[in-house]
Amino acid sequence: MKIRLKLLSYILAMASIVCLNGCNMQTTGDEGAMDIGVAIYKFDDNFMTLYRNALENYVNELSKGDKAYRVTIVDGKGDQAEQTNQIDTFIANKVDVIICNLVQASSAATIIQKCKSANIPVIFINREPTAEDLALWDRVSYVGADARQSGKFQGEIIAETETKGDINGDGVVSYVMITGDPENVDAQYRTEFSIKALNDAGIQTKELFNQRGDWAQERGQELTATALANFGSEIDVIFCNNDAMALGASQAITAAGRTVGKDIYLVGVDALEEAQSLVESGKMTGTVLNDHVAQAKKAVDVALQAVDGGMIEKNYTIDYVKITK
Ligand code: BGC
Repeated sequence: MKIRLKLLSYILAMASIVCLNGCNMQTTGDEGAMDIGVAIYKFDDNFMTLYRNALENYVNELSKGDKAYRVTIVDGKGDQAEQTNQIDTFIANKVDVIICNLVQASSAATIIQKCKSANIPVIFINREPTAEDLALWDRVSYVGADARQSGKFQGEIIAETETKGDINGDGVVSYVMITGDPENVDAQYRTEFSIKALNDAGIQTKELFNQRGDWAQERGQELTATALANFGSEIDVIFCNNDAMALGASQAITAAGRTVGKDIYLVGVDALEEAQSLVESGKMTGTVLNDHVAQAKKAVDVALQAVDGGMIEKNYTIDYVKITK
């Protein structure tokens, strides 16, 4: 009997592990503890995967001792309607606080109104709502980074190269821009401010190609391959709004027989471990650290402060950091 019970509990434990990895929801912590509902725009995103793991680890760390927290993280699968339902479920389950990585920043007002009606504080992360939306309620905040800074750092990394970005020496920095989804301010600002930094340094630029890669590695590879096939040695720089797309771009650059640092430059943002290795080995010119650990910790700290009824600011900004060899 004892053996059978042991077997049964083993099977149940295994089932819950399988569910943790295979389902679109992960919950850790004790029942009866303070409940934190976390809505992520899509689990299938390299950067947001690191971010949500850091967030979960931090809550678990804090949960030791006399403080008990339970975190439930759900996958919006890139679908705002799905995410809005998930927020409704969090509200119906009376979670204490919601941390939300919006699918569409334009849905912030709807989510804020729902949380306000239920008096559940909401902390937005990663995808910044407008100042107007953040002003809708005092138990709302945004924890993130200023994407203008990451774009500026990308431009500066290129301006600081030996040839000031003009690796083919034709007098102008001709570039390819691979963007995230255009609704996201991170994509808008990185695109704009990377080029502005070059122009502010007195460097002339020419855009050859600008396409959305939606933050994904495969898209980064496909688009870079197309750009290289169309513009060849005219291209000086490939700017990618994030590292996942830069990893794809790096594959396409190698496949086209081009060499970073010798006949082309490549920059991303995030400082994913794989990208840092490419910077180290010279296969990427640089990247910009998007500090997911600091952002995740801040988001949780602000969420707990909001639950305690403490005053919270509208914006908490974590600095980006330039990464070159
Ligand atoms: C990151 C991207 C990520 C996006 C998701 C950005 O800040 O740099 O890697 O895909 O956030 O919204």
